[in-house]
Amino acid sequence: YLTFLMNKEACVKLVLLGDSGVGKSCIVLRFVRGQFDPTSKFMLCTSALGVTVGASFLSQTIALQDSTTVKFEIWDTAGQERYAALAPLYYRGAAVAVIVYDITSPDSFNKAQYWVKELQKHGTPDIVMALVGNKADLQENREVSAQDGIDYAEKNGMFFIETSAKTADNINQLFEPEAGICN
Ligand code: GTP
Ligand code: MG
Repeated sequence: YLTFLMNKEACVKLVLLGDSGVGKSCIVLRFVRGQFDPTSKFMLCTSALGVTVGASFLSQTIALQDSTTVKFEIWDTAGQERYAALAPLYYRGAAVAVIVYDITSPDSFNKAQYWVKELQKHGTPDIVMALVGNKADLQENREVSAQDGIDYAEKNGMFFIETSAKTADNINQLFEPEAGICN
């Protein structure tokens, strides 16, 4: 009971941005449900033909070693161009922005840079940004080097990580504060 009382719960509004198809919804599904199934009911209820419509909202609470918890309120935005104008509705007030690209797609890396600039101009002041190169399991099709990601992130004061929603590689590390995303 005392331990319960002493728990400090922090709440973090987090927004995911990035090109359509880079794997934002798969990253969220992996983090919240521990699954990778782009055809699951979970994905189907927020998407049409696997593409997010508008945005979807989920929350996930994680317990830290010091018995505090962090509740992530996750806004998973739709990457298709037709939804771009909606993005400010979701990143407004966000403490954390996760900007995702696909390591096999230089176009998606360019789009990620567009989102970084947009958030630097219009995002919450002091927003914490993470740059995520997803689909790291597709090494043989890689077209964006890890070094390019690291360099860009460093220049813009962002946390950087490569993930795979498919294999679960680095997904927890992305969200856990120890990995640097919250602190
Ligand atoms: P929008 O909702 O349109 O913005 O796209 P999204 O970024 O949410 O992409 P989504 O999560 O729907 O993933 C698109 C497709 O990429 C999925 O159908 C998966 O097959 C594939 N995918 C996602 N993550 C990975 C990954 O880590 N590795 C591989 N190989 N494929 C992935
Ligand atoms: Mg999606």
